[in-house]
Amino acid sequence: MNILGIETSCDETACGIVTNGIDVRASVISAQLATHQQFGGVVPEVAAREHLKDLDRVVRQALSIAGMKIQDCDAIAVTRGPGLIGALLVGVSYAKALSVALKKPLIGVDHIYAHLHGALLGCDGAAVRYPALGFVVSGGHTNLYLMKSIREFDLIAQSQDDACGECFDKVAKILGLNYPGGPAIEKMAMGGDPSAFPMPQILEDRSQLSFSYSGLKTHMQNLVRRLNSPNINDLCASFQAEALGQLVRKLRIALSRNPETRSVLIAGGVSANQVFRQMVAQQIALPVFFPSLEFCGDNGAMIAASGYYFADQAKSFCPEWDAYSRHSEVGT
Ligand code: KG4
Ligand code: ZN
Repeated sequence: MNILGIETSCDETACGIVTNGIDVRASVISAQLATHQQFGGVVPEVAAREHLKDLDRVVRQALSIAGMKIQDCDAIAVTRGPGLIGALLVGVSYAKALSVALKKPLIGVDHIYAHLHGALLGCDGAAVRYPALGFVVSGGHTNLYLMKSIREFDLIAQSQDDACGECFDKVAKILGLNYPGGPAIEKMAMGGDPSAFPMPQILEDRSQLSFSYSGLKTHMQNLVRRLNSPNINDLCASFQAEALGQLVRKLRIALSRNPETRSVLIAGGVSANQVFRQMVAQQIALPVFFPSLEFCGDNGAMIAASGYYFADQAKSFCPEWDAYSRHSEVGT
């Protein structure tokens, strides 16, 4: 089954074509980085207008790379949410129009779950054993799920405030580094000493399983104000070690509370971080599945893959079917 996936939830206009949820035939990602960099973050209305300009070209390019005609696709999958509502509506409206014009089923996809399905692109899905822990660490979410199957997600922890990637972005801004902050901090941290600046271990003494990043951001802000020209490589390395350390500590707590877990899926923009991957390899004994680097951040292939797993929920034209900006899940 060939599915064409469309992603416009934030600042990447993306289209992927994937066969049976695994084989990527094409993936085109048009990032709006330069447009938003001047503002130090994503401007929602600008993002929506950029999607409007770019989406048709991106879809045509994906079809051309796959050597396929749009009629060769069996269904259209599109991100419904969560994300920036104006940006999402561009993708949803485009996908609805395609679906009506071509008489192809339309599958609404959840962006967060799709990140985890992106971890299985190109790999043997049968190798993943359930129950699994699914960990999405991105610019908008730090969500930990207990997955009974590839399409059952039980939220067991989330951030009480900022998401991990959001914290990387805000700290990068404090340090005068470019947006997005994650890759910029990872690069600067390479030449630094992670133990140079002691960092607070947030929420460490509470039994509750949740994440928190705003305290770490404030600590960095105060540190930068207080110190006279500190070594930026050391600052980045110390911050990164704690931001990622919190992820791994909480993952270990979740595993000890759910001893039946047989594998772990980790995805989202922050999962591209090589130090994070090393920490996970050293501290987690179960099989761990990460996306290949090109599918860590937002992309259309993960949307197409997720569409495959939810193909039974496909709709024919449905005018009231719409995008949602926030997840309906109630946190723990
Ligand atoms: O998944 P994603 O592309 O978009 C969302 O759904 O949010 O994640 C983007 C986030 C940004 O906050 C970015 O700074 C972070 O992922 N990120 C990283 C790295 N690459 C991207 N964070 C840490 N290390 C990285 N190498
Ligand atoms: Zn994302």
